[in-house]
Amino acid sequence: MKLQIVTGDIKKTESQYIALPVFEGKTETFGLPTVESFLKENPKFGKLYETQLLYSPKQKILLVGAGKREQLNFERAQNIAGTAVKGLLSKTSKVYLQALGDQWIEAMVIGTSLAAHDSTAVLKSVVEKPKLESILLVVSKTDENAKRSLERGEILAESINRVRDMGDAPANRMTPTAFVDVVGKVAKENNLKLTVLGEEEAAKKGMGAFCGVAQGSDEPSFMIALEYSGDPKASDKWSLVGKGITFDTGGISIKPADRMNEMKYDMLGAAAVVGAMESLARLKVRANVVGVMAVTENNLGAKAQRPGDVVKSYGGKTVEIENTDAEGRLVLLDAISYAQKDFKANKLVDIATLTGAIIIALGDFIAGAFGNSPEFTQKLIKVGREVGERYWEMPMDEEFDEWIKSDFADILNSARGGSTGWRPAGSTTGAKFIEVGVEKKNKWIHLDIGGTAWDMKARSFRNPGATGFGVKTLVKLIEEN
Ligand code: BES
Ligand code: ZN
Ligand code: ZN
Repeated sequence: MKLQIVTGDIKKTESQYIALPVFEGKTETFGLPTVESFLKENPKFGKLYETQLLYSPKQKILLVGAGKREQLNFERAQNIAGTAVKGLLSKTSKVYLQALGDQWIEAMVIGTSLAAHDSTAVLKSVVEKPKLESILLVVSKTDENAKRSLERGEILAESINRVRDMGDAPANRMTPTAFVDVVGKVAKENNLKLTVLGEEEAAKKGMGAFCGVAQGSDEPSFMIALEYSGDPKASDKWSLVGKGITFDTGGISIKPADRMNEMKYDMLGAAAVVGAMESLARLKVRANVVGVMAVTENNLGAKAQRPGDVVKSYGGKTVEIENTDAEGRLVLLDAISYAQKDFKANKLVDIATLTGAIIIALGDFIAGAFGNSPEFTQKLIKVGREVGERYWEMPMDEEFDEWIKSDFADILNSARGGSTGWRPAGSTTGAKFIEVGVEKKNKWIHLDIGGTAWDMKARSFRNPGATGFGVKTLVKLIEEN
């Protein structure tokens, strides 16, 4: 797919197809009589992402609802562009798309690339190839700013699409070994330093929490560190830490069969780290960052860990395994310690499909943000809003610390407590568990993307599957600090 920015009057373009965003309650007609008469007869047209194809003597015109003008934001601009592109994929080879305004070029570029990308086609023997080859985004001026937005949008979109591909690949293909191969490729292309610990090395270092999960799988497991050095003078060392469970059966505490197939997506935190590291390097961001990814299956078998087992983590704390399905926090506990002990990271963000409880709390379009510094967490939430990724700050009151205490070890991987019974505040207790591995002097945020990392519903702007959630936020957060 070729994407360009151009200037000019869209109604005079030579293309058969043009796409125009239409705001609700507005009567902008772009000087096209066909649009004018349609909007006169349909004054309510313009609801977010609704579409209408019109035929004029000269052109075919796709109208895309843009919602209320005052509610336009990055997320909407991205998805409006995506809706236009996905709507025309099989119809034409070339389309002129009217930009919403020059500040939304980056968003529209991303939306365009995400809509044109189809990871659902990879493993099908017969697929209808899209006709669309060329998208011309009509902007008011093609100056340096516009060019930079185009380039930035393309870089981010490529990383996001990489994350989507990794997630949508089934677990028999996206094994931990295959995951390492992708990271190796990204490292090579961008000159990043790569360290890969196998299970034996991880065990020798004392990563008992990670190894406890890994021991249940026949697939080799890896603790990966990918380093980007973009600022020799920086005093801060960032770390992005990702949960990379390539398939989560639940282990001996096995999950119900219903929708267990979706647990191939349980590596999307670690994949978001790969994507963010790639974009940080390509954008030459001035910062030093280590991406740490704990990659393993959570499987069951004769060698799998049992409920009641006690393991010793890399940070030194002992952990009672109450439920083998709460494996994400176990691998993250060691990954967080690895980032701090071996790479001296002092600003950490972990990202994980950690709990189903976050879906109960926030649904499927808002991620949970937890941390040990409310200002830092709020900063991330603000940055997220600016790039169309929504977060909500979740509580970390100290009362919850009691809930992860174990009778037989320092901490418990599932939680008890409160007066309401079983597994209360399930996402917060997961965050509290990870916090045990965070050194007090360091700043840390935990992102629970259990609800946002994938979406099995086909949208007007995106195929079903992994969303690539988190990449844009992580990149911008580091850029701005
Ligand atoms: N990977 C799951 C969380 C998950 C499930 C995210 C479904 C999105 C959709 C995680 O490893 C898990 O199973 N968590 C348990 C924790 C519990 C056993 C304390 C959960 O959420 O039920
Ligand atoms: Zn689990
Ligand atoms: Zn999991």
